[in-house]
Amino acid sequence: MTKLKFLTAGESHGQALTCILDGLPSNLALYADDINKDLARRQKGFGRGGRMKIETDRVQILSGVRNGKTLGSPVSLLIENKDWANWEMIMNPDTLSTSAGPHHNVPLQKGEAVTRPRPGHADLTGALKYGHRDLRNVLERSSARETAARVAAGAVAKKFLSEFDIQIVSYVTEIGGVKQIREHRAQSTVKTLLSLFKKAEASQVRCPDEKAEEKMIAKIKTAMKKGDTLGGVFEVAVLGVPPGLGSYSQWDRKIEAKLSYAIMGIQAIKGVEIGLGFEMAGNFGSEVMDELYYRTQNTEQRTQTKTQNPKRQSQDLSGGFYRKTNNAGGIEGGMSNGMPVIVRAAMKPIPTLKTPLSSIDINTKKKFLAAYERSDTCAVPAASVIGEAVTALVIADCFLDKFGGDSMEEIRRNYSGYLKQIREF
Ligand SMILES: Cc1cc2nc3c(=O)[nH]c(=O)nc-3n(C[C@H](O)[C@H](O)[C@H](O)COP(=O)(O)O)c2cc1C
Repeated sequence: MTKLKFLTAGESHGQALTCILDGLPSNLALYADDINKDLARRQKGFGRGGRMKIETDRVQILSGVRNGKTLGSPVSLLIENKDWANWEMIMNPDTLSTSAGPHHNVPLQKGEAVTRPRPGHADLTGALKYGHRDLRNVLERSSARETAARVAAGAVAKKFLSEFDIQIVSYVTEIGGVKQIREHRAQSTVKTLLSLFKKAEASQVRCPDEKAEEKMIAKIKTAMKKGDTLGGVFEVAVLGVPPGLGSYSQWDRKIEAKLSYAIMGIQAIKGVEIGLGFEMAGNFGSEVMDELYYRTQNTEQRTQTKTQNPKRQSQDLSGGFYRKTNNAGGIEGGMSNGMPVIVRAAMKPIPTLKTPLSSIDINTKKKFLAAYERSDTCAVPAASVIGEAVTALVIADCFLDKFGGDSMEEIRRNYSGYLKQIREF
């Protein structure tokens, strides 16, 4: 990220999560509730563990906003951990917790050093790398609790993008091998994507397909009974993106590279695809290239200086040029091409299991069957909301890179000048 930068801090059971977001223009209308609604969406989903019942995430905007508008200075955000009350003795930076004392080899109790690494987690490698003898020092930060701060930052980016009629949506397409049945992905128009999103918002697992949703919930219930966990696949779509975000001129300016980086940065994400992705590799070129067409724009479209319709079709943004398919997922040559940007991500199953897995105690070096800490069974719906957030941050960064200015007014002028240039191309 070059123009919009952010850093998060905070431990899972620490006092709070914080985030500093720098590079926003002045005069963007921003209220805590713009952020809170996404924080609530991140907490939902059938298959979450007990922690989400304790937390009701609310953000405090600590700086960078005055009278409901950004100042152009760094925006800092704070989300309190309600669970802190139960962990203060253990996590307090200023007092010695039990776990700071001699190492114990007795079964895991709250406050004692954690010495039993969970397979699939950061526990063992983090301890080896940082020289920690208490795995809590690793798991507190590697935990996906951190993503609440990223979702908060992403909500600000979404608010910024919404001023330019750019909308980010997501939905779950697969959980534990149960797949959503729907028309060919390439047919994904703005209208279809909005309808998938609407259905996903009403679904317990963010799946737009009711039949698949039922099967997914049944599969999660089976996993719960067995003390096992599940992963899955979600898709994020960006609507209303103009052509030309990102660039072919250097490898690290390619928008799909930036998106993949951000999506892969989410805990437990192990695969990313753009558009048809891996499926494209098995086809003839003639089957998957999105052919180009042109439709003369009407007077209203040609004279329009400010776009106000979030549901506008891609040819409105591309000066009459359009494609009937979107196998490329809205990206060609490292640039958005004016079609919806489609990113898909694969999440591995949650690594903390009730079903014991074989591991080694770091003190005794003896084999044991991994101990269980409160955990999710499936968090793909939450990951999909996190996917929206990091996608929003990347798209906002690319947008600022192209149309950047210090105030919203300046960026609006730059953007409408560019849209005019495209309409008159
Ligand atoms: C929304 C979300 C919730 C998660 N919840 C848990 C959880 O409750 N228990 C757990 O062990 N891992 C959970 N994970 C996954 C771990 O954070 C992740 O697997 C771990 O940090 C190791 O990193 P890696 O999978 O990226 O290699 C969650 C991930 C996400 C995105």
